[in-house]
Amino acid sequence: MLSKTKFAPAVDRTVGAQTSTGAVMEAIRLKQATRALAPGEKLPSIRGLAANMQVSPSTVIEAYDRLAAEGLIHARAGSGFYVSGAVPSRALLEAEPPRDRAIDPLWVSRQSLDARPEMLKPGCGWLPADWMPNAALRRAIRRLARADDAVLTDYGGTRGSPALRHILVRQFAQGGIEAGVDQVLLTASGTQAIDLVCRLLLHPGDTVLVDDPCYFNFQALLATHRVRVVGVPYTPTGPDLSLFAEALSAHHPRLYVTNSALHNPTGATLSPQTAHRLLTMAAAHDLTIVEDTSSPISSPSPPRVWPPSTAFSA
Ligand SMILES: Cc1ncc(COP(=O)(O)O)c(C=O)c1O
Repeated sequence: MLSKTKFAPAVDRTVGAQTSTGAVMEAIRLKQATRALAPGEKLPSIRGLAANMQVSPSTVIEAYDRLAAEGLIHARAGSGFYVSGAVPSRALLEAEPPRDRAIDPLWVSRQSLDARPEMLKPGCGWLPADWMPNAALRRAIRRLARADDAVLTDYGGTRGSPALRHILVRQFAQGGIEAGVDQVLLTASGTQAIDLVCRLLLHPGDTVLVDDPCYFNFQALLATHRVRVVGVPYTPTGPDLSLFAEALSAHHPRLYVTNSALHNPTGATLSPQTAHRLLTMAAAHDLTIVEDTSSPISSPSPPRVWPPSTAFSA
């Protein structure tokens, strides 16, 4: 895979006594840490990067050699330089000191939805259109167009299509979740599902834990329920467990709303060890965990609510 990553001129990056070689190395390290350069990806050619960053080819050669000595990249004879296998996760807690900051989730939402196509949309949470199962979607829409009139225009049942719920229950069973077809409720979107869970379980003034950072819409949605939102710093393996335990004792939260696979916006995934500790703490504090999994493509696991009996008992 050849990198299409763009690099700014080194002059924009040289700070104080930093050399051009240091600026090139730093630019590549940053792209790796933020996953703009993936393991196995081919780095730009020496001449290409030199032109982009407005440095001499010998500066790029030296930067590549030093990064190779650090094990971050490697050369393949006659082919060029490639990003090496394991890229250390960004230590989120060390990225910057924690700050109290005002968040306007609707501003973030507008930025994502109204941005020009060439703008990157970190945190928007949806996958690029060409990663989606477009051919399967087209087939399904064509089949639907041929369905009976009632399927096209009538109201369905209150829980949604029984056929789809049967399929989901089979998938849940493969993931170890035993749920009956009548315990599954289909909604128009993930956001609507979380909103319904909040209506069922929350009262104004309750406290809800979220990850810090978290998917921006959680904040907007919880604000409409007039609850207190407490953020727990997120690490590469899930929420910081000691701060989570402190938040449980200090705030007695009712819910913890999270998305554990391909966490938005960090891209981290909850480790089984952290998940186990979280479940143990949740059980001890009567905390319900709402897990939001936004895309079956990004993760095969279905959205889950612990304990299931609470969430599905209405
Ligand atoms: C974590 C997360 N949950 C939910 C959503 C939105 O889901 P829906 O459009 O089904 O409401 C997103 C969106 O991108 C997301 O990143």
